[in-house]
Amino acid sequence: GRPRDLAGRKVVVSAGGTREAIDPVRFIGNRSTGLQGYALAKTAAARGAEVTLVAANVALPDPAGAAIVRVESTAQLREAVLAASADADVVVMAAAVADFRPETRHDAKIKKTDGEPEAIRLVKNPDILAELGERRRAAPAAGNGSERPGAVLPRVIVGFAAETHDVLANGQAKLARKGCDLLVVNQVGEGLAFGTAGNAATVLVAGGEAVEVPFGPKEDLADVVWDLVAVRLP
Ligand code: C5P
Repeated sequence: GRPRDLAGRKVVVSAGGTREAIDPVRFIGNRSTGLQGYALAKTAAARGAEVTLVAANVALPDPAGAAIVRVESTAQLREAVLAASADADVVVMAAAVADFRPETRHDAKIKKTDGEPEAIRLVKNPDILAELGERRRAAPAAGNGSERPGAVLPRVIVGFAAETHDVLANGQAKLARKGCDLLVVNQVGEGLAFGTAGNAATVLVAGGEAVEVPFGPKEDLADVVWDLVAVRLP
């Protein structure tokens, strides 16, 4: 069995992939299925955590022991994650969040009889993971100057990064830029990560080691993440 080392801890996990509407029937999306996020939610619940799972466009059976909030767009995911994170010990951003969204959402379906297709102008989405890190940095220290690691909520922030090249160098830069404590770096590409039952990854620890996780079930990677999180909780 699993250790109950997350008992009494509140954790938030985002899963799946956000969709950005072009018109009422079309969207810009990505290939994330939510399997890794659901594995994280399931294993955290099994280790005793109170889990809020923010699921973006996931078609999987509900994992046992997690409260699910369903969202579609990045704006909705952001609202749900920030609300649930206010009193959370741990936030894990496993969702594939759209970096851009169409500037305008058409109220009516765009028809090919409307003439030549117009360009879709994209605007940048807010970076939720970076925002969580910034919020925590800006938060007043617990107590009167007695700040210690893990004193400010969320105590541990975990990001995911899918990289196709220069995986470790890009991962280290991203960890620093986003202000998270752990970054799970996946190599993506043909047959890797998206929609598969298994995953291989490197977990980068802020100011520290890189933990290699060999290819295996997504639950195994989830348990390695929770092992690293649990030792960082006061
Ligand atoms: O910058 P990049 O998209 O590679 O970063 C991936 C990590 O950042 C994931 O943890 C993802 O959930 C998070 N992210 C986010 N908001 C965005 C884009 C990514 O929280 N707009």
